[in-house]
Amino acid sequence: MASFQTLPGFREFYPEDLARRGHIFRLWRQNAGTFGFAEYDAPVLEPLELYKAKSGDEIEGQLFNFTDKGGRDVALRPEMTPTVCRLVGAKANALKRPIKWFSIGEFYRYERAQKGRLRAFFQFNADIFGEPGVEAEIELIALLVQCFRAFGLTEQDFYVRLSDRNLWFYFLESLGLDETRTRAVLTAVDKDDWAAYTQKFGAPEPVLRAEIDRFLKTRSLAELESAFAASSSEAIRTRIADWRKLVAGLEAMGLGAFVQVDLSVVRGLAYYTGFVFEAFDKKGELRALAGGGRYNDLVKKLGGPELPAVGFAIGDVTTGLLLEQRGLMPTLVSAPDVYCVIGGEAERRAAFGDIHALRAAGYRVDYPMKEVAFGKQFKAAAESGAKLALIYGGDELAKGVVKLRDLTDRTEHELPRTQVLTTVRDFFSGQ
Ligand code: HAM
Repeated sequence: MASFQTLPGFREFYPEDLARRGHIFRLWRQNAGTFGFAEYDAPVLEPLELYKAKSGDEIEGQLFNFTDKGGRDVALRPEMTPTVCRLVGAKANALKRPIKWFSIGEFYRYERAQKGRLRAFFQFNADIFGEPGVEAEIELIALLVQCFRAFGLTEQDFYVRLSDRNLWFYFLESLGLDETRTRAVLTAVDKDDWAAYTQKFGAPEPVLRAEIDRFLKTRSLAELESAFAASSSEAIRTRIADWRKLVAGLEAMGLGAFVQVDLSVVRGLAYYTGFVFEAFDKKGELRALAGGGRYNDLVKKLGGPELPAVGFAIGDVTTGLLLEQRGLMPTLVSAPDVYCVIGGEAERRAAFGDIHALRAAGYRVDYPMKEVAFGKQFKAAAESGAKLALIYGGDELAKGVVKLRDLTDRTEHELPRTQVLTTVRDFFSGQ
């Protein structure tokens, strides 16, 4: 039998759900604007090739892909990063740098169903292109933090874990690992699962595991500095200086309490080349709220020029769950400003003129579609959440007036029909 249910992992948005989603999108967009990011958009369906060997095995295995009627191999986008690299790469010379862009869109991954993970979800993506220094990371992490604080969340609720794939490479190199083994270790660390590594290279020696476990536990800049204190490598010294600059920058922005050094974050996506970070809820109950990092090679890999890049994406699912948990998701109803209570058919015609004039002036106005008793209409007016009721009764209209009731303090007075619009305007401009 045909099933008319939604597919697993896909959501329907009833008006209250869409209002909540809209609330999240509004604050993301508003904060991106205050940080000087410009909004862009792109197709949801892309050539499959865009994600092959670029996003990494995990995302590749989760693609919603098919062959279209023209025989093209296509995929619904699982993430924005390869797409935005193509956009920027194609016009890199014409764009003023640094390029600070953001977008809000839907993404698709064939994930196993679990709390906080769906198969269709929204992300807010913010990326900076053309800035190789940690100034870009500072700007982005500041925006990331602000995108949660804007909802009323505090350092008690969420934090950003900051890590560095460069340091992991330097560290594993110092232990004698080549690039292939290093990548395999990082995958094992990311998944907290050494099976794939063991299959390829044999079980890691206990000394190696112990060194890695120790490095994984790094939780502060001081610990990081001491881990490399004995190193004579110029690259490591420069890198530690970058770390100091990054942490100092975030502290100067007053964001120190929101950021935690945490070398256990390595990020599963294939293209990251430097600093990486993830945001989590403080209680550790939810999956990641956001993730990002530097990816200096991807624009070039996708046919563009050499262009350093760093960015992040916040997901709407875990963000929504966190806001609900903390009671920070407002109950948003699209209440009218004015509710019209209408006597009968003759009064309805009189009311229509005013209703239309008020709406054309930008006020949200509602009224009953059918003739119903006054009592029921007043109840509907009160329940609608409107601030004002306009009452069109036969007696009033015979005198050329309507009654205006303030639904908050329940006062009412009559006013000439000709003054409806100006009176409503005065009321709301004084609010
Ligand atoms: P990501 O870590 O794969 O990074 O995803 C970022 C965020 O999107 C996650 O932290 C999570 O909140 C949300 N998310 C991911 N998958 C799902 C899912 N199946 N259901 C619900 N939410 C999900 C990226 O996508 C990178 N492209 C981010 C980036 C931008 N890096 C640089 N620029």
